[in-house]
Amino acid sequence: MYRTHTCGELRFEDSGKEVTLSGWIQRSRDLGGMTFIDLRDRYGITQLVFNMETDPGLCRKARQLGREFVIQAEGLVTERSNKNPNLPTGDIEIVVSRFLVLNPSVTPPFTIENESDGGDELRMKYRFLDLRRNPLKENLLLRHRMAMETRNYFNCHNFVEIETPFLIKSTPEGARDFVVPSRIFPGQFYALPQSPQTFKQLLMVAGYDRYFQIVKCFRDEDLRADRQPEFTQIDCEMSFVHQDDILDTFEGMLKHLFKTIKGIEMDRPFPRLTYEEAMELYGSDKPDLRFEMKISNLTSIIKGKGFPAFETAEYIGGICAPNCSDYSRKQLDALTEFVKKPQIGAKGLIYIKYNTDGSVKSTIDKYYASDAMIQWAEQLQAKPGDLILIIAGLKPVALKALCELRLEMGGRLNLRDKNKFVPLWVTDFPLLEWDEETHRFYAMHHPFTAPKPEEMEKLDIDPAGVHANAYDCVVNGVEIGGGSIRIHDEKLQEKMFRLLGFTEQEAKKQFGFLMQAFLYGAPPHGGIAFGFDRVVSLFAGEESIRDVIAFPKNNAARDVMIDTPSGISEDQLNELSLKIKKDNPAN
Ligand code: AMO
Repeated sequence: MYRTHTCGELRFEDSGKEVTLSGWIQRSRDLGGMTFIDLRDRYGITQLVFNMETDPGLCRKARQLGREFVIQAEGLVTERSNKNPNLPTGDIEIVVSRFLVLNPSVTPPFTIENESDGGDELRMKYRFLDLRRNPLKENLLLRHRMAMETRNYFNCHNFVEIETPFLIKSTPEGARDFVVPSRIFPGQFYALPQSPQTFKQLLMVAGYDRYFQIVKCFRDEDLRADRQPEFTQIDCEMSFVHQDDILDTFEGMLKHLFKTIKGIEMDRPFPRLTYEEAMELYGSDKPDLRFEMKISNLTSIIKGKGFPAFETAEYIGGICAPNCSDYSRKQLDALTEFVKKPQIGAKGLIYIKYNTDGSVKSTIDKYYASDAMIQWAEQLQAKPGDLILIIAGLKPVALKALCELRLEMGGRLNLRDKNKFVPLWVTDFPLLEWDEETHRFYAMHHPFTAPKPEEMEKLDIDPAGVHANAYDCVVNGVEIGGGSIRIHDEKLQEKMFRLLGFTEQEAKKQFGFLMQAFLYGAPPHGGIAFGFDRVVSLFAGEESIRDVIAFPKNNAARDVMIDTPSGISEDQLNELSLKIKKDNPAN
């Protein structure tokens, strides 16, 4: 037997027991006649003690043990004289009578402590060591509990978990596919699923009216803190449902997770905003509702008074930052620089200080009377002591900049509390997006999304104006899920593909299987997928989903631990009928 107990298990009541523990050496301290070793495993840390006076041979041997050695130790559970209230096992220690080195360790490249001294890249390279650290371990255990509770919830609601294949044909979710060459069919390729979208719809046609799956998805896209090339979805599809049934099911799931995992009671129903409302009020389709600071459209009341930047602007909008009228010149300059960053794109920032004495001070004092500015302040529901920040320009650019500025101010004012969770649904997305570069429409969600029935007629005359039965779930400004009611009619699906620029042949080649299935009695259906990594990182309070994934890729989509992507042998290439182009013009 390697162990009788784990390193997190023993308590004062176990005093007097002879036990055997196995684990890793976290640290070791020699204090005069005693040597103390913290022994760690997944469950916790237990102190081992060696006494120079009573067993000098053993104590000397113990002093040779290094960090991260794996040992087995036998001894007596004894009450500690110097208790550690921060450790669950802190009332006891093991007076060791015998130990065995199960495996030594070379010195780890960074400290395996809560706060490590290792940089990102080094910790990624030695991920198996990083995973020994408490913060990552806690995240993985949290992820496990959340997966179990998710399955419990769906199981209790009559859903079945059905696996769908990974070697498939392209599914258009808006990213590039990862492809896998076929050995048996030279020159042919599988695509890894960007999501199980078409398969879950086929399961509806097959009659499995409540499907879910915790499933890996693969997307070749630019990475960010909340994006990985392979990530996990809580994927779901339901038949004979309307939008509200799906939203209700997933509100229930989030409520269940918050309750069972965090002990938080979520109020239901979650607030809802249409896409247009979200864009007007927050400049984003994933607004952070932990704080107010809504955007006001000031165009009609500000324009036409002679200030050049306003006169030429398509749109003028502002936000009101509470209690910031005492912002210094330096602080205001920093905000101006912030909104002028190329990725934000504003031309400039106008401020109005609504001082505590009721007076106003602004960059544009020359052009507007104080009374006028107080009137704008009131439109923004400002109180004396507040700071009004205004951006003008093309509407989408100004709204985006106001959105970023709002988030920045929310952060500066500590209004984005990690322990507060505010969900909402964003609904009624436009069905299509026009792309100026390629001169064609793209599906805003995906091509299987149904137009709103009452706008069906508009599809022929004003496709850009048609809305979809599509919805996103947003918590604290993060899009954690998205879905839609689907098209289940072959003719309408065909029309949709045409609108998206597919020829009949192309549509048949890529999605013929789905359109054919629709000829055999497809039920009305819809679904949604939540980004599981994002939900877990939200619960864990982590900024990046990498911290809740055991073996993630780095920012350049590499796994630096196993060193991949990497080349393959000439033999493998030959077997797959592949030849590597030396100077690929696409690179
Ligand atoms: P969508 O593309 O909106 O919908 O994806 C659903 C959710 O998956 C998460 N997500 C990601 N998480 C990490 N890394 C990524 N690269 C990544 N991409 C997406 C997001 C997102 O909200 N088939 C549809 C769902 C449906 O219509 O039912 C789909 O995949 O949290």
